[in-house]
Amino acid sequence: MDIIIRDHYEAMSDYATEVIAGYVKSKPDCVLGLATGGTPIGVYQRLIQMHQQGLDFSQVKTFNLDEYYGIGMDLEKPYNLDQSYARFMHEELFKHINIKKENIHIPNGLTKEPESYCQWYEKQIEKVGGIDLQLLGLGRDGHWGFNEPGSSLGSRTRLQALTEQTLDDNYEAFYKKSNIPKDQMPYFAITMGIGTILEARNILMIVNGAKKAEMVAKCLEGPITSQITASAIQLHSGRITVVLDKAAASQLQHSNHYVHVEKLKRDYGL
Ligand code: GLP
Repeated sequence: MDIIIRDHYEAMSDYATEVIAGYVKSKPDCVLGLATGGTPIGVYQRLIQMHQQGLDFSQVKTFNLDEYYGIGMDLEKPYNLDQSYARFMHEELFKHINIKKENIHIPNGLTKEPESYCQWYEKQIEKVGGIDLQLLGLGRDGHWGFNEPGSSLGSRTRLQALTEQTLDDNYEAFYKKSNIPKDQMPYFAITMGIGTILEARNILMIVNGAKKAEMVAKCLEGPITSQITASAIQLHSGRITVVLDKAAASQLQHSNHYVHVEKLKRDYGL
């Protein structure tokens, strides 16, 4: 695991953006797994700037981790005004870059048959040869996507009930400013499973802020447990890059070692 610690959110976003742009440049038809939340917004803004300077997304394919159940893409009006992750992705990234609509995949929160739909979503990932690089944030209860505590570490794409804490966090972040009453938030989501995420060839996790410091330490240095589903990162067999700001890294026991390793690798050009 490459654990990279930067002073602040902006520097964390700079580093993570370079990682993603590196994939797009070296493999123009790469498959990116994408995440929502406040954390990746800085990365998306930088990718948009890079696109304005020539970074080409015309062959890139994307798969999003998750979507609230009961809202989402209306196939007639693909991006209607709601709090769906489809809309978030459109507003924060897709409408600003030259990605083809048919190359964008976001779980459809409006499906009437979640079970077969989720199997279909997994098949689509398989059909393109799997995900090259999966971008991930970290939920405050240690989740990836919407894999809440207790999700099996082998889980696949499925319908998942959200915890009170996740509902509270996401209400504050997204719903409150639109004056949507809390009881109208979706209580379920479709999410890629932990097993699905672990099949991505490479993982890029970004986390910032002191609020997540304890969870970052548990996830990276604690025991692997289905109570902190992102701790499954320790099982991943591909290249893992974790980019943290100082506040998020503040409870790590071995941060000096991670800084040392980063410097060594830089000095030796690795
Ligand atoms: C939601 C998303 C996650 C995201 C998390 C953290 O639960 N499903 O993918 O990582 O929020 O969001 P934020 O980056 O706003 O803290």
